Formats: sequence, structure tokens, C-alpha cells
Amino acid sequence: MAILEILVYPDPRLKQVSTPVEKFDDSLRNFIADLEETMRAGPGGVGIAAPQVGRFERIVIVDVSSKPKIPHHGHLVLINPVVIQHDGWEVGREGCLSVPNYTGNVGRWEQIRLSAQDQWGNACVFEMQGFEARAVQHEMDHLQGLLFLDRLVSRRGSLFKRKVYKPAVTNSNVEKD
Ligand code: NI
Repeated sequence: MAILEILVYPDPRLKQVSTPVEKFDDSLRNFIADLEETMRAGPGGVGIAAPQVGRFERIVIVDVSSKPKIPHHGHLVLINPVVIQHDGWEVGREGCLSVPNYTGNVGRWEQIRLSAQDQWGNACVFEMQGFEARAVQHEMDHLQGLLFLDRLVSRRGSLFKRKVYKPAVTNSNVEKD
């Protein structure tokens, strides 16, 4: 396994639209293992999308199980994900491994029904809500070449500079997805 380099804003490659995964083979699963390791190496990483490491395929990983007292599905590898139903709307704060110095307020659907494939190509459907639904929508945006910066709820007052912590503190106090 390997930790991959994360593309950082304003790298123009982050605007690229990713293509569907068609081949579910060992090389895909090896890449997913590396992507996962890269996510876990980041500070507070709860999600990552393949284009963030320069692979422009529709693959995201989300795992919000470290957040206390919220509903979640644990560790999720979502390939070719599609939102097939949604309900509600909620504004919340987001960060991103590709935008290390800022967080921002973004509106997202509160509940979603999602269809996707797993890393063997099996079709699955998930119902999710709240923070997990937000994390998935954030990661799916990366597949369309969008960052949370493109979805701020207002031009003024919804972008926040992160405080600079010492590394040890950063790991426990800062959430990124
Ligand atoms: Ni992100």
C-alpha cells in the first residue's frame, strides 16, 4: 500500500470530470487500498475521492464512524455512485483535503437514497442522512470537478480560514472530508 499525493486547490486537475469505472479487477482494488490509506493519513479524513489523487474515475470512500452519535454505514467504498432520491436541505460546515486552509458553509440534501457499486461490481443501495449524506455529496462533487468552494451558501461570510494548530492538535481537532 502507498500514500498517494493529494492535489491541492487551485490545481486545475481538480476541475476534471471523472469517468465511470467499468473494470472491477485487482488493480482497481489495489488502488482503493491506497486511496483508503491516503484518506486515513490525512487529518480527520472522513472521505476522499479518486480525482483528488489524480485518478479520474468515479470512486469515493466515506467513513464517518469516528464521529460520535450519528447514524452511519461504517466504511463505504462507493463506485459509480448516483443519488436517486433526496429530501430536505441543510447548511453545514465542510472542509477538504484538497483545500487545506479553509472551511466553508455549504447546503446539502439532508437525506439521500444512493445507488452505487462495491469494489467487486455488486450493485447496492443506501439510505443515508445528516453528516454521512453530506460527506457523500461532498465526495461525489469531486467526481464532477466541483469543490465546496463552488457551493458556498453566500459570497461573503461563508468561508473561514482554519486556525493553524500544531500537528498533534490538528490531528484530533480538525475535520476534513
Ligand atoms: Ni473534498
